[in-house]
Amino acid sequence: MNVIITKDYDEMSKKAAEVLLDVVKNNETPVLGLATGSSPIGAYQEMVKDHQENGTDYSKVVSYNLDEYVGLPISHKESYYAFMHQHLFNHVNIKEENVHVPNGLAEDLDQGCKEYEDMLKKVTIDLQLLGIGGNGHIGFNEPGTPVDSETHVVDLTEKTIADNSRFFIPLGEETPTQAVSMGLASIMRSKKILLIASGANKADAVYRMVNDPISVDCPATILRNHPDVTVIVDAEAGAKLA
Ligand code: GLP
Repeated sequence: MNVIITKDYDEMSKKAAEVLLDVVKNNETPVLGLATGSSPIGAYQEMVKDHQENGTDYSKVVSYNLDEYVGLPISHKESYYAFMHQHLFNHVNIKEENVHVPNGLAEDLDQGCKEYEDMLKKVTIDLQLLGIGGNGHIGFNEPGTPVDSETHVVDLTEKTIADNSRFFIPLGEETPTQAVSMGLASIMRSKKILLIASGANKADAVYRMVNDPISVDCPATILRNHPDVTVIVDAEAGAKLA
């Protein structure tokens, strides 16, 4: 695990975008695993800026998102499908048919998960982008999620529901309590992994990811078993690392 501490969110975002763009530019059919949350927004802005200034081509890019809330229509502004379009897909020339986000509205959610995983197994993700939850979750793989988990339905923990409520309270809506997420095994199959984190509220999770025993008690520690992981954090999120 290669850990890079940057001075602030902007520098973290620029460095993360460099890693993402390297994959976009240097693969014939780049396959990206993408993430939502406040952490990647700056990196996506850098990619959009680069596309506008340098014309970087996304016509061959294929993307698979990590997770999606259960029960939100894709038109809901807090759905991860809408998030990805708002922050990245609408601003680059990626083809809609190459964009994949788990279906949180499938009538049979387990079957939907299986279909997503079957699709993932047919490709190799060149670069999987990740954030980290305050409790060390990656994607929506909460503490205790089995290491061999594949795409599955998740009951979100109280902490995650509380963390995400900031997006729903202003809308006067209930925060979703379930999600569909790639599993830890799905994530670990990626060729390369890039995890980003910023802010003091991530300092504990980042410390635990790097120092705790490798265990599903802190799902992000599992990444230490992957041969090619880069972690880019800002000074606040990295504050507890020596
Ligand atoms: C959510 C997402 C995760 C994300 C995490 C951190 O729970 N499912 O994929 O990494 O939150 O979010 P943020 O970047 O907003 O702190």
